[in-house]
Amino acid sequence: MSETLANLLQENRQFPPPEELARQANVTAEAYDEAAGDHLAFWAKQAERLEWTRKWDRVLDWSNPPFAKWFVGGQLNVAYNCLDRHVAAGNGDRVAIHWEGEPGDARTITYAELLKATSQAANTLTELGVVAGDRVAIYLPMIPEAAVAMLACARIGATHSVVFGGFSVDALSGRIQDATAKVVITADGGYRRGKPSALKPTVDEAVARCPSVEKVLVVRRTGQEVAWGEKDLWWHETVEKANPEHEARSFDAEHPLFILYTSGTTATPKGILHTTGGFLTQTSYTHDAVFDLKPESDVYWCTADIGWVTGHSYIVYGPLSNGATQVMYEGTPDTPHRGRLWEIVDRYRVSILYTAPTLIRTMMKWGEQIPAEHDLSSLRVLGSVGEPINPEAWIWYRENIGRGRCPVVDTWWQTETGAIMISPLPGVTAAKPGSAMRPLPGISADVVDDQGRSVPNGGGGYLVLREPWPSMLRTVWGNDQRFIETYWSRFEGMYFAGDGAKRDDDGDLWLLGRVDDVMLVSGHNISTTEVESALVSHPSVAEAAVVGATDPTTGQAIVAFAIPRGSVRTEGTAGEELIQELRNHVARTLGPIAKPRQIMLVPELPKTRSGKIMRRLLRDVAENRSLGDVTTLQDSTVMDLISSGMKAGKSDED
Ligand code: WT7
Repeated sequence: MSETLANLLQENRQFPPPEELARQANVTAEAYDEAAGDHLAFWAKQAERLEWTRKWDRVLDWSNPPFAKWFVGGQLNVAYNCLDRHVAAGNGDRVAIHWEGEPGDARTITYAELLKATSQAANTLTELGVVAGDRVAIYLPMIPEAAVAMLACARIGATHSVVFGGFSVDALSGRIQDATAKVVITADGGYRRGKPSALKPTVDEAVARCPSVEKVLVVRRTGQEVAWGEKDLWWHETVEKANPEHEARSFDAEHPLFILYTSGTTATPKGILHTTGGFLTQTSYTHDAVFDLKPESDVYWCTADIGWVTGHSYIVYGPLSNGATQVMYEGTPDTPHRGRLWEIVDRYRVSILYTAPTLIRTMMKWGEQIPAEHDLSSLRVLGSVGEPINPEAWIWYRENIGRGRCPVVDTWWQTETGAIMISPLPGVTAAKPGSAMRPLPGISADVVDDQGRSVPNGGGGYLVLREPWPSMLRTVWGNDQRFIETYWSRFEGMYFAGDGAKRDDDGDLWLLGRVDDVMLVSGHNISTTEVESALVSHPSVAEAAVVGATDPTTGQAIVAFAIPRGSVRTEGTAGEELIQELRNHVARTLGPIAKPRQIMLVPELPKTRSGKIMRRLLRDVAENRSLGDVTTLQDSTVMDLISSGMKAGKSDED
């Protein structure tokens, strides 16, 4: 019998929740039983967290799969739920956002102030002719106006399409055109790596190609010189002078909220469409449950950019619907020094931190002495998202950032799922380093084989979702057929997420990366994630990326790229010895089948702007091909660094 995906890594450490946290946790173990009994009743109860102006008639309409309707007939206003109701409840003076700019400037914005700014922006958009159902593109740095712009769209029923501020003219204009956006909201620029970085010129070029755009609203952030055209309006001359009163009208629970483009691993970006009632219900519930948010006392910080779904769900909609106080930071983690994040944690007494494995591994590379210099005693819950987190990075995060006191929640989800789907609960779960553990209450995830049959404990396969969930994508914008083909046709009646996973002997889930990245070595399907984790478990390795390269004898052979930790020596024979040691270490950890044919010691890895490793480029290197498209690389010089740094690290063959 052929296995679907090999299960090689054994990890037996387990960390129960701190007693005090468990005693006061927002969600207890009963939630699982409650949801298992009747998951629709469970989600209806969570929807009661929000204020509806008309209650739904039915929780779910799944009569026309895969097109779901949640909270059918219900009506609400998303911005009202994120702002007005907190002010009405007497919490207008609570800080919504502690914002810190990269140069060190800061702004404190209360819920009452955020409501005022959002109302003004809503009035301005209305004056510009934007009506419910129109699309608005947002291309901004990490400044409070980004959240205001999104909320203002939500308030008037316009659909926002946020485009990450690092994207090019082509990416921006393609997205504006696909959504036929009427207005673009941007800034002169933002600060990155100590310098103003312009945005407006990119918008000018993009808008020239986009006849649908009628107006461009420009926030002044850096004060740099900008070209000015007929469509341009300054934010401070319009929004900041607009009427601060705006009455929020209600929209249907299935009214579109936003489009967010994701390229996944394939070429043309897909506009993932999310709607209001179900999306806000699940982001609000999961933000409360997974982070155990206490809005009166916690200070929450998600380090993601607003241009990614994490910024939508866990900077804007989840936290604000829950009345959270949060930190928002404009810049990069090493400007002006490598302790910037920890300085911010201390300054604002951050208690909940949500970040990505790529950042954690960068911090590992920089060394634990940097966080050690800061007071991190305010932290109580740590979260991770975006990629599988290797057990060693998880432990490093727990020890060096959480100082051994804070639960770590590894949260699995996607742009398409809209909200967290699989995660430990910090007051309930005895978490295992590197495992996302169980589907949240109300969510039904499974691991299946090629034929769509559940694999038993100890087996690996494809991660699927068997039941619809409130914050699910509703379609691919303008392309229902692509929605069906991409997500619902691999397995009958199931959503296939594209990820491989295994279920351990206790039934807990381990994400193994995209199935497109799985390597076929001598007839075994081996996940790149497991080999990367084995490499990172060696004390000399900070980060690793693994790819399968064509091999005449084994079909594919494992080729690894490893970044040594800060203090490790790699010159001359020291490098050769380390490579041998690492190959043997992987063989000892996972078995001889997983021993890399080749390991290259490199200073950096090619990553997308959201921090995912671009294995496609590494495969080109491993197979001695000329490089493919490098335009989505975060730093395009990385591939040169790898090519030049590589020579020292070539290993002999077995
Ligand atoms: C893909 C989705 C979810 C918001 C940010 C990324 C990978 C995400 C985890 C995790 C293992 C993870 C998956 C997923 N991923 N979180 N905790 N463990 N893998 O959103 O850009 O839509 O990417 O990111 O491969 O399918 P996205």
